[in-house]
Amino acid sequence: MFEPLEIINSLSSCNTAYSSPSNIALIKYWGKHPVQLPANPSVSFTLDKCKTETRLKAEKTSGTLDYFDIEVVVDGKANEDFKPKIIHFFKRIEPYFNFLKDYRFKIETSNTFPHSSGIASSASGFSALAACLIKTEQKLAGDESHKLNLNKVSFISRLGSGSAARSVQGPLMVWGKHNDICGSQDEIAIKYDHIHPVFHDYQDVILLVDKGQKKVSSTVGHGLMNNHPFANARFKQAHDNMSALLIALSEGNLDDFIKITENEALSLHAMMMSSNPYFILMKPNTLHIIEHLWDFREKTGIPVSFTLDAGANVHVLFPNVHVTKVLELINTKLIRFCQNEHYICDNIGDGLKALS
Ligand code: PMV
Repeated sequence: MFEPLEIINSLSSCNTAYSSPSNIALIKYWGKHPVQLPANPSVSFTLDKCKTETRLKAEKTSGTLDYFDIEVVVDGKANEDFKPKIIHFFKRIEPYFNFLKDYRFKIETSNTFPHSSGIASSASGFSALAACLIKTEQKLAGDESHKLNLNKVSFISRLGSGSAARSVQGPLMVWGKHNDICGSQDEIAIKYDHIHPVFHDYQDVILLVDKGQKKVSSTVGHGLMNNHPFANARFKQAHDNMSALLIALSEGNLDDFIKITENEALSLHAMMMSSNPYFILMKPNTLHIIEHLWDFREKTGIPVSFTLDAGANVHVLFPNVHVTKVLELINTKLIRFCQNEHYICDNIGDGLKALS
């Protein structure tokens, strides 16, 4: 689908740098088949402040290597822990590039959110690295257009982490074929902006209930959908929820938006609770927060809702016009359920940015 570009500029060195945000799925991707293709379509809000900043230095080697020469620096310190994952990624993406064994790479990366926050950095991390690699390829191929090939970035990001395909642009991204969305496909995520203005300034306050490492890696989690007794019903539910959500998004119907996104969050966790082996990734404090949010919504009529990732943290979603009241709720009632009273305020964003 994305043939490697022919290298015509054999530059001795090439520097590129991008930041890429995390994203939060509204319709969840859970279940995949090789290689990194989703079992059902998903849609996400692209975030703005939670992001990874990556600088890639490529230096020409004297001849073609028979291995990948990669140095990884995280927050200014040499890091060996991420290397196996990155080498695995390079092996997967090798067919799509012509220069990976002709250069040695130094990857310097840092996150704007704390490492130990329970927020997955794979989406922002792989998409930032993919953007750097594609910019490098474009420079080596003599492409002076200055226009990053965002579709190839999404395609390559996906091969690192499925949800990374959705971090490339914003405000929303759809990944996976869905009959109601023209151009949607399993190989790349596409920008989706048929949304009512009420969603333009949507906020996502991430309540950090558990900052520990994930108990189940997403690879294992997706794998558990293979023989899951409810798999087919779940995949159909995701398609149906997507159709309904698209209408809510275009009409600005917040009641439906809330019902569908909360149903998706709980369905994701229901899949984990009913797989074999089974997992409970929510914590008692996750449920306390949900109860408080529901109570607050009922009493005030403020359209605040939650969604969850594959973990205990709660993403609190609401239009910016309600920010004062929602932050008051968080600071008076919800903060006690957060580890070290820690939460992160983010909002809907628009994806990759070139760094100087
Ligand atoms: O991209 P992965 O393999 O880390 O999977 C992400 C899965 C969820 O975050 C639970 C849902 C989603 O669509 O992002």
